[in-house]
Amino acid sequence: MDLAGKNVVYLGGFGGIGQKTCSELLERQLQALAIFDLTLNEEILTTWQSKFPNTKIFYLKVDITQRSDIEAAYKEAVERLGHLDLVVNGMGLMDDRHIDLTIQINLMGVINSCLIALEYMDKSKGGKGGMIVNISSVAGIQPTPLMSVYSAAKHGVTTFTRCLAHPPYFDIMGVAFVTICPGFTETPLLNDLADKITFKFETPMALRKAKRQPPQVCAENFVKVIEKAQNGTAWLLDVGEIKEIEFPVMWIPQLEQ
Ligand SMILES: NC(=O)c1ccc[n+]([C@@H]2O[C@H](COP(=O)([O-])OP(=O)(O)OC[C@H]3O[C@@H](n4cnc5c(N)ncnc54)[C@H](O)[C@@H]3O)[C@@H](O)[C@H]2O)c1
Repeated sequence: MDLAGKNVVYLGGFGGIGQKTCSELLERQLQALAIFDLTLNEEILTTWQSKFPNTKIFYLKVDITQRSDIEAAYKEAVERLGHLDLVVNGMGLMDDRHIDLTIQINLMGVINSCLIALEYMDKSKGGKGGMIVNISSVAGIQPTPLMSVYSAAKHGVTTFTRCLAHPPYFDIMGVAFVTICPGFTETPLLNDLADKITFKFETPMALRKAKRQPPQVCAENFVKVIEKAQNGTAWLLDVGEIKEIEFPVMWIPQLEQ
């Protein structure tokens, strides 16, 4: 997608990866950037607004566990912008000691946000089409036992995104779906890991040894991917590298004659 002149919604735009990715997106002469997040980071918002005066930048409060918040925010964003071109579902929580919340934020949040965004973007409903990018994780393509609940939620994100990329859906709705799978990235999400892994008897040693990339590096690669990704593609952004993911076909339906 050529980002110049586009209307973008970024959920979780004040988070570690979100902040850096939004800054990178803003360098592409966007028409507008709407940040949906749980809390406002006024300092970052005003910095962006003064650095990018030609882009309309605003914040709408969204608790992604509340469907009514998501609906209200998309409604207001579309009222203010006319249409949406790109949505990034980039909120997240890694805390396996809070099982329901982990599923609600990482999986239900993505599902609800995508389906509500489609109400405005779907060409068959009067939208202009566009792209929805969902942030999954390496834990969403590979079982990650230290964070089993998070890993399950992120596998859900990967699969849901790939399902919505079904080519006949794309032909009708004109909305491309792309999955992003970052590797370990130095953000607050990984703080206090020992208190957030699935079982108390596990140690975060394996994670301490796993290389982490800076969020700036992840963000630069993320925006490069948004610029070139096709519908249905999934991308690994790990240790500063970009790799397109190829999924094996495990099953195809046997059709009735
Ligand atoms: N940091 C990593 O190692 C890593 C690796 C793979 C994937 N990810 C994914 O990348 C994305 C960004 O994570 P991050 O590392 O920047 O984490 P982060 O903790 O810095 O940011 C998380 C963002 O989600 C928002 N959020 C949390 N709960 C919310 C709620 N109830 N409603 C609305 N927003 C809420 C936060 O406000 C914040 O903006 C997440 O989807 C995360 O799962 C991170």
